Amino acid sequence: MFVDGVVRVQVPATSANLGPGFDSLGLALARYDELEAEILADGLEVEVLGEGAGEVPTDERHLVVRAMRAAFTAMDVQAPGLRLTCRNVIPHGRGLGSSSAAIVGGITLARGLVADGEERLDREAALRLAADLEGHPDNVAPALLGGFVIAGGAPGGWYAVNAPVAAEVSAVVFVPSIPLHTEVARGLLPEVVPHADAAANAGKAALLVAALAGRPEWLHTATADLLHQEQRGPAMPDSLALIHELRGDGVPAVVSGAGPSVLAFTDDSGAAALLRRCPDGWRAWHLSVDRVGCTLSRVLGS
Ligand code: HSE
Repeated sequence: MFVDGVVRVQVPATSANLGPGFDSLGLALARYDELEAEILADGLEVEVLGEGAGEVPTDERHLVVRAMRAAFTAMDVQAPGLRLTCRNVIPHGRGLGSSSAAIVGGITLARGLVADGEERLDREAALRLAADLEGHPDNVAPALLGGFVIAGGAPGGWYAVNAPVAAEVSAVVFVPSIPLHTEVARGLLPEVVPHADAAANAGKAALLVAALAGRPEWLHTATADLLHQEQRGPAMPDSLALIHELRGDGVPAVVSGAGPSVLAFTDDSGAAALLRRCPDGWRAWHLSVDRVGCTLSRVLGS
């Protein structure tokens, strides 16, 4: 039932919302956590290197382990013991999809460790499970599928549809030193929004699909948001200040996911100037769009 040896997963960072697409638009970015796992006779061994090392629990509470256990249950198998190594480069609590990477990575590892795992839990079922565990699909869908994804809830499940991104589109992400937890950011959202604001966001989200597909001159207009960014400002004033400054200069900048990172769309020629605008104490990376999503391989000779 289980495969021998080590399986390895590479899972991309993601940026959700992208301005107007709250809980529905997401983009995979070429920065990858690398996870390895194998079946043991018993016990649980978890090693975390890089981001989150010394901070996240290394027992059954570890999010990758929880996602693996949920996937094993969905496949109707149980692992006697597990060894897991996480080499993390996606920062935690910064709105760059680290928890989705853990969930999608864990599910993909579990599928890879079961000989007929891809039949027991196909890609659609894997997406459903990941979105159920995360609670919304806008990060897990691009982490699994790669590229730009339009995702949401539908009666009886979730949908996730890829849409094109022009080759010249990439992103600079600005990452503050202090995290912000998604639950805190969600707690700042109003119960009710004005109809005109909701209508404007719907129009901008539709425009963003066309802008990313090959009309980059519309990215600035298309990334304007009225529903969540300013509302969350009190929890990330420096991020909002950077966004206002960049947008004032014509740069299509948004809060990445629930924040506090900032994402600015660019092309290769604009990236260096953007990187120079990184505030003191923050990190900034120029990232291309990941177009393949989570990948699984076997470690030979293990
Ligand atoms: N759409 C989510 C939010 C992204 O903004 O709360 C976080 O995963």
